[in-house]
Amino acid sequence: MPAISFKSVSKTYSTSKKQTGPLVRALDEVSFDIQPGEFFGLLGPNGAGKTSLISILAGLSRATSGSVHVHGSDVLTDFADARRKLGVVPQELVFDPFFSVREALRIQSGYFGIKKNDAWIDELLENLGLADKANANMRQLSGGMKRRVLVAQALVHKPRVIVLDEPTAGVDVELRQTLWQFIARLNKEGSTVLLTTHYLEEAEALCSRIAMLKQGRVVALALTSDLLASSNSNVLRFKIDKDLPAELAAKARITGRIVQFPAQNANDIEQYLAAVRQAGLVAEDIEIRKADLEDVFLEVMAKNVTHSEVLA
Ligand SMILES: Nc1ncnc2c1ncn2[C@@H]1O[C@H](COP(=O)(O)OP(=O)(O)O)[C@@H](O)[C@H]1O
Ligand SMILES: [Mg+2]
Repeated sequence: MPAISFKSVSKTYSTSKKQTGPLVRALDEVSFDIQPGEFFGLLGPNGAGKTSLISILAGLSRATSGSVHVHGSDVLTDFADARRKLGVVPQELVFDPFFSVREALRIQSGYFGIKKNDAWIDELLENLGLADKANANMRQLSGGMKRRVLVAQALVHKPRVIVLDEPTAGVDVELRQTLWQFIARLNKEGSTVLLTTHYLEEAEALCSRIAMLKQGRVVALALTSDLLASSNSNVLRFKIDKDLPAELAAKARITGRIVQFPAQNANDIEQYLAAVRQAGLVAEDIEIRKADLEDVFLEVMAKNVTHSEVLA
């Protein structure tokens, strides 16, 4: 039985309060399963529908059609069972400012009917670098610290499935490392992890399988290693001090002075460098590297031009 199963999940939002405005189709027939023990990445640009899908999974919002199961429990009809199997770290920082960190975690334990949870709460505080903040009020904490508490809250009932929606957005490097060490440990010990992130290098390092969403549709679903192998395989990267001629620029990914060309082989690389020289430009700091997940992501997104974009 899958840990998470999405079957033909669609979601439309009305764009006006009175529900009379045009509809936004946030999710369009999304179907895939995540197996127990997987570290699964859900990627996509802003507005692709990631948070909508997670909200439906968490029972915070209702699918317009389709169904979602967590270890066999339907998130609508077996809400309490499904909820108990899930630990969800939401994208938005929501918390009650009146409680201390430890109180918040005890209350959350109580919500799941767990008494005497202090040993596990202490372990969570320790592993998330919150031990010295146990008695601090939530409102005294910085954004990064609040994020840690949200993670601890999600884990308080030892859920089998851990769901993290952009947990590292705007978070310092230290927390990222602490968080990933801990989540990777829980995954090794058997927890299933579903992660959305903008940091593609995080997804590449952590996730064994990845789904990419674009405008509410699954446009890629594969093992991370297969996604990486599917790409044009190499990237030529260098710096220049002047603009590239338009016909070359059209083939490149350009960030300020850094230019990157997808290259299949040595011949491609020679041709690009020759073209740059002929244009009277000097390429500096030349590097050739393997395509990474960001290259693959950009390729997949560029390939899947949707109808509305063609019309736009
Ligand atoms: N409560 C809502 N009401 C109306 N539109 C919404 C609402 N939540 C999300 N949307 C729209 O649904 C689409 C998907 O949003 P979201 O699920 O937040 O994407 P992501 O998390 O991938 O950035 C976007 O077009 C967004 O504007
Ligand atoms: Mg989101």
